[in-house]
Amino acid sequence: MKRYIPFILLAVLGLLINACYYDEELELPQDNEPITEEVSFSADIQPLFDQSCVQCHGGNLNIAPILESDVAYDILINEGYVIPLDGEASILYRSLIGDGVALMPPSAPWSAQKINTVKAWIDQGAKDN
Ligand code: HEC
Repeated sequence: MKRYIPFILLAVLGLLINACYYDEELELPQDNEPITEEVSFSADIQPLFDQSCVQCHGGNLNIAPILESDVAYDILINEGYVIPLDGEASILYRSLIGDGVALMPPSAPWSAQKINTVKAWIDQGAKDN
Protein backbone atom coordinates (compact mmCIF):
# COMPACT_ATOMS: atom_id res chain seq x y z
CA MET A 1 0.00 0.00 0.00
CA LYS A 2 2.80 2.42 0.95
CA ARG A 3 4.19 2.48 -2.54
CA TYR A 4 0.98 4.08 -3.87
CA ILE A 5 1.30 7.10 -1.61
CA PRO A 6 3.56 9.11 -3.95
CA PHE A 7 1.06 8.56 -6.78
CA ILE A 8 -1.88 9.63 -4.65
CA LEU A 9 0.03 12.77 -3.60
CA LEU A 10 0.81 13.54 -7.23
CA ALA A 11 -2.83 13.10 -8.19
CA VAL A 12 -3.96 15.46 -5.42
CA LEU A 13 -1.31 18.01 -6.41
CA GLY A 14 -2.44 17.76 -10.02
CA LEU A 15 -6.04 18.44 -9.03
CA LEU A 16 -5.00 21.45 -6.95
CA ILE A 17 -2.94 22.96 -9.75
CA ASN A 18 -5.79 22.42 -12.16
CA ALA A 19 -8.23 24.11 -9.78
CA CYS A 20 -5.98 27.18 -9.42
CA TYR A 21 -5.54 27.39 -13.17
CA TYR A 22 -9.31 27.45 -13.61
CA ASP A 23 -9.82 30.20 -11.01
CA GLU A 24 -7.37 32.37 -12.84
CA GLU A 25 -8.97 31.73 -16.21
CA LEU A 26 -12.36 32.84 -14.92
CA GLU A 27 -11.02 36.14 -13.60
CA LEU A 28 -9.22 37.07 -16.80
CA PRO A 29 -10.89 39.78 -18.85
CA GLN A 30 -10.64 37.74 -22.07
CA ASP A 31 -13.75 35.88 -20.92
CA ASN A 32 -15.82 38.96 -21.66
CA GLU A 33 -17.05 40.14 -25.00
CA PRO A 34 -14.10 40.86 -27.27
CA ILE A 35 -13.75 44.48 -28.36
CA THR A 36 -13.87 44.67 -32.13
CA GLU A 37 -14.31 48.41 -32.84
CA GLU A 38 -11.25 50.59 -33.07
CA VAL A 39 -10.35 52.06 -29.68
CA SER A 40 -9.33 55.71 -29.62
CA PHE A 41 -6.63 56.87 -27.21
CA SER A 42 -8.02 60.39 -26.84
CA ALA A 43 -11.72 59.46 -26.74
CA ASP A 44 -11.62 56.13 -24.85
CA ILE A 45 -8.37 55.74 -22.92
CA GLN A 46 -7.31 59.19 -21.71
CA PRO A 47 -10.72 59.89 -20.11
CA LEU A 48 -10.27 56.69 -18.03
CA PHE A 49 -6.85 57.93 -16.88
CA ASP A 50 -8.38 61.33 -16.06
CA GLN A 51 -11.04 59.64 -13.93
CA SER A 52 -8.95 57.23 -11.93
CA CYS A 53 -5.20 57.60 -12.41
CA VAL A 54 -4.07 61.23 -12.64
CA GLN A 55 -4.76 62.01 -8.98
CA CYS A 56 -1.61 59.96 -8.27
CA HIS A 57 0.08 59.84 -11.67
CA GLY A 58 0.11 63.62 -11.99
CA GLY A 59 -0.71 66.65 -9.86
CA ASN A 60 1.18 66.94 -6.57
CA LEU A 61 2.01 63.25 -6.17
CA ASN A 62 3.39 63.00 -9.72
CA ILE A 63 4.14 59.25 -9.47
CA ALA A 64 5.60 57.69 -12.65
CA PRO A 65 4.20 57.13 -15.22
CA ILE A 66 2.62 60.59 -15.51
CA LEU A 67 -0.79 60.01 -17.11
CA GLU A 68 -1.98 63.60 -17.62
CA SER A 69 -3.36 64.23 -21.09
CA ASP A 70 -0.53 66.42 -22.38
CA VAL A 71 2.17 63.77 -21.80
CA ALA A 72 0.53 60.37 -21.16
CA TYR A 73 0.79 58.94 -24.67
CA ASP A 74 4.47 59.84 -25.19
CA ILE A 75 5.48 58.58 -21.75
CA LEU A 76 3.64 55.26 -22.11
CA ILE A 77 5.28 54.55 -25.46
CA ASN A 78 8.74 56.08 -24.98
CA GLU A 79 9.29 54.72 -21.49
CA GLY A 80 8.16 51.22 -22.43
CA TYR A 81 4.96 50.92 -20.36
CA VAL A 82 3.14 50.01 -23.57
CA ILE A 83 4.44 47.63 -26.21
CA PRO A 84 2.32 48.28 -29.33
CA LEU A 85 0.48 45.13 -30.53
CA ASP A 86 1.34 43.24 -27.32
CA GLY A 87 -1.17 44.03 -24.56
CA GLU A 88 -0.27 40.96 -22.52
CA ALA A 89 3.36 42.06 -22.22
CA SER A 90 2.62 45.73 -21.55
CA ILE A 91 3.17 46.98 -17.99
CA LEU A 92 0.19 49.32 -18.39
CA TYR A 93 -2.14 46.35 -18.96
CA ARG A 94 -0.39 44.17 -16.38
CA SER A 95 -0.78 46.90 -13.74
CA LEU A 96 -4.57 46.80 -14.29
CA ILE A 97 -4.72 43.07 -13.53
CA GLY A 98 -1.88 43.08 -10.97
CA ASP A 99 0.25 40.67 -12.98
CA GLY A 100 3.83 40.92 -11.75
CA VAL A 101 3.44 44.62 -10.88
CA ALA A 102 1.35 46.48 -8.29
CA LEU A 103 -2.40 46.39 -9.03
CA MET A 104 -3.73 49.73 -10.34
CA PRO A 105 -5.67 51.67 -9.23
CA PRO A 106 -4.48 50.34 -5.85
CA SER A 107 -7.79 50.40 -3.94
CA ALA A 108 -10.37 50.28 -6.73
CA PRO A 109 -9.63 47.70 -9.45
CA TRP A 110 -11.21 48.44 -12.82
CA SER A 111 -14.06 46.52 -14.41
CA ALA A 112 -13.10 43.90 -17.01
CA GLN A 113 -14.69 46.13 -19.65
CA LYS A 114 -12.32 49.03 -18.96
CA ILE A 115 -9.32 46.70 -18.74
CA ASN A 116 -10.33 45.08 -22.04
CA THR A 117 -10.57 48.48 -23.67
CA VAL A 118 -6.98 49.30 -22.73
CA LYS A 119 -5.78 45.88 -23.88
CA ALA A 120 -7.65 46.22 -27.19
CA TRP A 121 -6.11 49.66 -27.76
CA ILE A 122 -2.61 48.20 -27.28
CA ASP A 123 -3.34 45.09 -29.36
CA GLN A 124 -4.60 47.33 -32.16
CA GLY A 125 -1.19 49.02 -32.29
CA ALA A 126 -1.41 51.63 -29.48
CA LYS A 127 -2.12 54.41 -31.95
CA ASP A 128 -2.06 58.09 -31.02
CA ASN A 129 -5.61 58.36 -32.30
C1 HEC B 1 -3.76 56.11 -5.06
C2 HEC B 1 -2.69 56.41 -5.96
C3 HEC B 1 -2.67 55.71 -7.30
C4 HEC B 1 -3.67 55.62 -8.25
C5 HEC B 1 -5.09 56.15 -8.17
C6 HEC B 1 -3.09 54.91 -9.36
N1 HEC B 1 -1.79 54.57 -9.10
FE1 HEC B 1 -0.49 53.62 -10.38
N2 HEC B 1 0.95 53.70 -8.97
C7 HEC B 1 0.81 54.23 -7.71
C8 HEC B 1 2.03 53.99 -6.95
C9 HEC B 1 2.27 54.40 -5.50
C10 HEC B 1 2.91 53.30 -7.82
C11 HEC B 1 4.28 52.74 -7.50
C12 HEC B 1 3.89 51.32 -7.14
C13 HEC B 1 4.89 50.46 -6.60
O1 HEC B 1 6.02 50.46 -7.11
O2 HEC B 1 4.49 49.71 -5.70
C14 HEC B 1 2.20 53.15 -9.08
C15 HEC B 1 2.73 52.53 -10.19
C16 HEC B 1 2.09 52.40 -11.40
C17 HEC B 1 2.68 51.85 -12.59
C18 HEC B 1 4.11 51.35 -12.72
C19 HEC B 1 4.19 49.91 -12.34
C20 HEC B 1 5.60 49.43 -12.43
O3 HEC B 1 5.91 48.50 -11.70
O4 HEC B 1 6.40 49.98 -13.18
C21 HEC B 1 1.74 51.89 -13.57
C22 HEC B 1 1.87 51.43 -15.00
C23 HEC B 1 0.56 52.46 -12.98
N3 HEC B 1 0.81 52.78 -11.66
C24 HEC B 1 -0.60 52.68 -13.66
C25 HEC B 1 -1.75 53.22 -13.08
C26 HEC B 1 -2.98 53.38 -13.80
C27 HEC B 1 -3.19 53.05 -15.27
C28 HEC B 1 -3.88 53.92 -12.93
C29 HEC B 1 -5.32 54.23 -13.16
C30 HEC B 1 -6.09 53.15 -13.68
C31 HEC B 1 -3.20 54.08 -11.66
N4 HEC B 1 -1.91 53.63 -11.79
C32 HEC B 1 -3.78 54.61 -10.52
C33 HEC B 1 -0.28 54.91 -7.22
C34 HEC B 1 -1.49 55.04 -7.85
